[in-house]
Amino acid sequence: MKNIAVFASGRGSNFKHIYQNIQQGKIPAIIKCLITDNHKAGALDFARENAIPTFTISPQEFNSSHKFGQAIMEVLSRFSIDWIVLAGYLKKIPDNVVAVYSNRILNIHPALLPAFGGKGMYGSRVHQAVFASGAKISGVTVHLVNTEYDAGPIVTQRAMEIDDCRTPEEIAAKVLKVEHILYSEAILKVLTKKFEVRGNRVEFKNE
Ligand code: GAR
Repeated sequence: MKNIAVFASGRGSNFKHIYQNIQQGKIPAIIKCLITDNHKAGALDFARENAIPTFTISPQEFNSSHKFGQAIMEVLSRFSIDWIVLAGYLKKIPDNVVAVYSNRILNIHPALLPAFGGKGMYGSRVHQAVFASGAKISGVTVHLVNTEYDAGPIVTQRAMEIDDCRTPEEIAAKVLKVEHILYSEAILKVLTKKFEVRGNRVEFKNE
């Protein structure tokens, strides 16, 4: 069993799906805590309803990213966290946390990286950019987190046609359905299979 900390800033639908899949025995893990930067995050309600300890830690409360990272690390060590799962978490993970959890932090992005990623590209902004670009395909990316926004080694991706979508919201809805399936699959894979990171590539053994 691996101990997971989920980080979320918003409504938390990915968090909810991951939690449900764990409860159904599909992923050998326990969600030990939810960390958010936003005391209004919907994810907090779901965590409280399910007796998952919650912590609101905002970077504005600290005078450096390092101290923000230390506050996060305190919670992570209290729960002996093995993996961090970012589920709609909008703040940059401090470098000192990335150093300790190297290749043990996952993020989900609602497009096909490396396109439509980077600082400021999250949630609806991603889908607006995809829509405006005229792209006929979008998708979901799950990647390991390094010190740059959306630039870590890719664990898995799934593409889908968005030719039929007439608004960015329609793209978002189509992509989100796939996120809910792919994120749990990716978590199961990194927790149960051996992999190596070579450069920016994730290589699973026996594949
Ligand atoms: C999801 O679409 C996720 O991919 C995106 O935020 C949404 C959170 O939804 N994350 C990013 O854009 C990160 N760059 P949720 O709170 O319902 O899981």
